[in-house]
Amino acid sequence: MSVRFDPAGPLSGGLRPPPDKSISHRAALIGAMCDGPTRITGYLDSGDTRSTLDAVRALGATVTEGEPDDDGGLFVEVEGAGLRNARSARIDVGNSGTLLRILPGWLAGQPEGSWSLAGDESIARRPVGRIADPLAAMGAAVSSRDGLPPLEVSGSRLHGTEHDLAIASAQVKSCLLLAGLMAEGETTVREPTASRDHTERMLAAAGATLRRSGTEVVVEPAERLESGDISVPGDFSSAAFFIAAALIVPGSELELREVGINRHRIGLLSILARMGVVMGGAHEEGRAMTVHEIREPGPEPVATLRIRHTALRGAVVGAEDVPAAIDELTLVALLGCFAEEDTVVTGAEELRRKESDRIDAVVDGLSGLGAEFESAPDGFTVRGTGELRGGRLDSRGDHRMAMLGAVAGLASKEGVEVAGYEAVSISYPRFERDLRSVIHA
Ligand code: S3P
Repeated sequence: MSVRFDPAGPLSGGLRPPPDKSISHRAALIGAMCDGPTRITGYLDSGDTRSTLDAVRALGATVTEGEPDDDGGLFVEVEGAGLRNARSARIDVGNSGTLLRILPGWLAGQPEGSWSLAGDESIARRPVGRIADPLAAMGAAVSSRDGLPPLEVSGSRLHGTEHDLAIASAQVKSCLLLAGLMAEGETTVREPTASRDHTERMLAAAGATLRRSGTEVVVEPAERLESGDISVPGDFSSAAFFIAAALIVPGSELELREVGINRHRIGLLSILARMGVVMGGAHEEGRAMTVHEIREPGPEPVATLRIRHTALRGAVVGAEDVPAAIDELTLVALLGCFAEEDTVVTGAEELRRKESDRIDAVVDGLSGLGAEFESAPDGFTVRGTGELRGGRLDSRGDHRMAMLGAVAGLASKEGVEVAGYEAVSISYPRFERDLRSVIHA
């Protein structure tokens, strides 16, 4: 399905982005590992997070869904299967790399049972050696087809192990921490740069014992977990499309409410600061971006962000910036088109292993709209010309590429036709409605 996004005048108004996808996955998975009920408010209703609800049902948890709230969040009650009681099953992870890579940690340490995990065409290309190898080092029985799904897991006795990850990855770290709960002795995970810590926060709230310092996390084995209530903040990665739109459509001013601001997720903001976006607190209204009402209602901090159109300059983004901005680097490419001077992204080869090869997808996609790129194995350079012609962009079945195409259309001269637009349903089914709600003729 193709959807056209025409050049737009100033964007204005406000919205609450949809609930966080990473946190929703973890709330359902950790809820399933608990004894007793976990009540989740604002669970993301999307393709990916539906795959996780189906998976935990197949594993023996009971899931009761309430009506969606005005912002598209669901109330979900998960009656857990318990830590050592997952039922054998074939799991269809759909398009979700996060489900594919986190869930096996729990399954690998079960006293008995066997599982097979597979998904759609994009999942068939996503590497699983990054979890299978360290799980095997803990004594797990895991196998794959030359490092790709389907992934077969049988329950075994695990022993605590020290893992030094070559690449920072919250999916891999989370998988190993879940396995650590089921292992004998302590499990340590060290990353080159700290990745998002939603799992650590949620496990600690459910009664697990974790020690954290710098880029190292140590987890102790657990007898049982109990979660209680989890409230899911708005997804910064979804909010990022509106941040980018406000920055590049002249005259825009937007307010984004209840946005999760976990510091391991908001690396885009420090990149934006280098691109000339002047940031400030609640009383610094003249700034291009201000942060208001910072609160910590649960394990995750949230805030309101106000953002207005501003002149951008080029920036250099390196490996140390990547983990906290991994899902927003394609937006940096789009913003780079509207900057003065070049923007260079390096150290981001992981982008090639996302829902699509996002380096190829963004370089080809935006070049087709008139942008000037050079691509590299681990990133790209985009020439800041201050404008984008428009044309047709193929999402390649990747939700974030579809949304990027839409934002590009609003800021372009001739508009953008986004082919494969339906991919947005993976993380943000109401994206078009929300985007059109801030466009005023
Ligand atoms: C995610 C971690 C990141 C991110 C993905 C979601 C998570 O992947 O790109 O969209 O929820 O843990 P990696 O762990 O592979 O970096």
